[in-house]
Amino acid sequence: MNPVNVGLLGIGTVGGGTYTVLARNAAEIARRAGRPINITVVADKNPARARELTGGNCQITDDAFAVVNDPTVDVVVELIGGYGVAKELVLQAIENGKHVVTANKALLAVHGNEIFAAAQKKGVTVAFEAAVAGGIPIIKALREGLAANRIEWAAGIINGTTNFILSEMRDKGLPFAEVLKEAQRLGYAEADPTFDIEGVDAAHKATLMASIAFGIPIQFDKAYVEGITKLEAIDIKYAEQLGYRIKLLGIARQREDGVELRVHPTLVPAKRLIANVEGAMNAVLVKGDAVGATLYYGKGAGAEPTASAVIADLVDVARSAAVDPDNRVPHLAFQPDQLRDLPILPIAEAETAAYLRLRVEDKPGVLADITRILADQSISIDAMLQREPEEGEGETDIIILTHRCKEKQTNAAIAKAEALSAVKGKVTRLRLETLQ
Ligand code: HSE
Repeated sequence: MNPVNVGLLGIGTVGGGTYTVLARNAAEIARRAGRPINITVVADKNPARARELTGGNCQITDDAFAVVNDPTVDVVVELIGGYGVAKELVLQAIENGKHVVTANKALLAVHGNEIFAAAQKKGVTVAFEAAVAGGIPIIKALREGLAANRIEWAAGIINGTTNFILSEMRDKGLPFAEVLKEAQRLGYAEADPTFDIEGVDAAHKATLMASIAFGIPIQFDKAYVEGITKLEAIDIKYAEQLGYRIKLLGIARQREDGVELRVHPTLVPAKRLIANVEGAMNAVLVKGDAVGATLYYGKGAGAEPTASAVIADLVDVARSAAVDPDNRVPHLAFQPDQLRDLPILPIAEAETAAYLRLRVEDKPGVLADITRILADQSISIDAMLQREPEEGEGETDIIILTHRCKEKQTNAAIAKAEALSAVKGKVTRLRLETLQ
């Protein structure tokens, strides 16, 4: 059978890994795909480095548009990233009738509806396993392996940088800023790690998971996004004392009245497997009505783990290229005309338990006032901790874990508590998920 000719756009970390793994496992991959998969041309802004990495075994150019317009290229692998030129290249490749494989979660989370509609019209595939959780085949699992289920929710540690930072803050009791510097030194975090630490990268991935889990259009702009920059080491410590770990989770939950789509630091019971995912590793927990909870764990970034996902997509494309486009696995798991118009709910409507830390005057009646405020909002208390004040300190911390309620109830209770003269400063609120 004819080989599949691949044009690779960007031979950085993931592109380099893709080239290496495709070459190393060529025979095994061809046995799976039914035909050889060859990178015939590479576009990179640094052609000299591309030549060095490929050993002169394929054509090199610095003109990515020449690759997407090359009639001999069957599949374009886009590993440039970002929303700018990558979007133009992907749309041009589709327009030229080429399949596309991409790891670009930002592009798909923001422009995915347009890109998938264009691909649908042209009868080509845009595959994106590498866009979510790197080497973990979570897209395949959600889209195909769990196709029998009504998926209730998915919750994932889907950003390795922030998981590394949280692990170090907990292990070593270090403040956020110090660990971030270490993450940068070790090469986990980007030089500008804003997308990682502000939760945007995780929100891109959670948005894609929500779409394929529930069959809804991609709506990144409606996701609630809160990173870890404001997280204090003291809350990691108190959470630990109460039997919880704090993880940055991307959460997508399907309810009758809409979808919760949120990224935020989350208390998770320490005994859950996902709470013990440490360092730069990723994990996604998915709850289906038939299968129950399933957990997917692995490397969410890095050259060869991400290449593993890119190449799996290439194998899929090679196998399905001859299949009538209407009979291929749909991009968003559900048939395009069967996507549901289920709204993404505002964060105030989210149903979560809460962790509240209040700095209070240590005097009679303060705790009673606070619990009265919670009761007035119909919020039930699950656990409580009060730090023993230092000699003569006069103030202390009260930590309250609530049962599940609507976030707007917690908001109202926080506002009332902050208005008490015995409560000093702002109440710290974190969300808590039992993930049962
Ligand atoms: N910056 C991402 C992370 C890399 O830290 O997980 C893969 O998307």
